Amino acid sequence: MSQVTAMAKQLNPMSTECLRIVQVTDPHIFAEPEGKLLGLSTRVSFEAILARIQKEEIAPDLLLATGDLSQDASEPAYQYLLDKFHQLNYPCFWVPGNHDDADLMEHTLVGQNVLPHKRILTPHWQIVLLNSVVKGKVYGNLAATELEFLSNALKEFPERHLMVVLHHQPVNVGSSWLDKLGLRNADELFEILAQHEQKTSVIWGHVHQDFEDTQNDIQLIATPSTCVQFARESEDFAAGQESPGYRYLNLYNDGRIESWVHRVDELEYTVDYTIKGY
Ligand SMILES: [Fe+2]
Repeated sequence: MSQVTAMAKQLNPMSTECLRIVQVTDPHIFAEPEGKLLGLSTRVSFEAILARIQKEEIAPDLLLATGDLSQDASEPAYQYLLDKFHQLNYPCFWVPGNHDDADLMEHTLVGQNVLPHKRILTPHWQIVLLNSVVKGKVYGNLAATELEFLSNALKEFPERHLMVVLHHQPVNVGSSWLDKLGLRNADELFEILAQHEQKTSVIWGHVHQDFEDTQNDIQLIATPSTCVQFARESEDFAAGQESPGYRYLNLYNDGRIESWVHRVDELEYTVDYTIKGY
């Protein structure tokens, strides 16, 4: 588990019928304001997405940011993100990604509505945020302390529905280069989740594409990046054609999740498809 004490945050959803979540992931913000990933300014696309979220009629109860928040793990990038999240009037939570520095985030990406909590509780749901980062590696792994944190959370509230939030994909998404860089010990995660009798879901970032599946009664969800996408079903690294996106998730009291992706199509940019890595 990260340095942040695993505190439970009791959240009172604005709507009694469901908890409304907006997920943003993999914004890859650089220290330099003009930083680009494969030709796309990551700050410009992130700001376009935040502006869209703020304009939409859906009023989220909270935001989840699922890693690779900074491309260069830099303090200016986290300061920028903190400032942007402060413009939202609801709680924002995060997990680190392979490009991030979790220790630095714990010091810089907190304050006001940006919260360090790794567990969110509502009367019907428990949301557990896990750090899947292995320092210096692109692939992920859940340390024993993270697995224990999840296990204990389930023992404490076995009657609540569960959503696990992490950066790395625990199942293959169909691109061989990317699936080598997923969560290495997903078996251990699923072993714990198999014990849980209520509705269970896992959401993540990292794969820069929309993905939804259900396996062994566990709902599995990945979300497009707020910047460049990765091509689907690709042997090797390749950028995708889709626009930057984000996801809404409505968590109902009976454990049902309704979820959909929005994309920002009006941004003008040219993805550099010649780049063979990111
Ligand atoms: Fe990423």
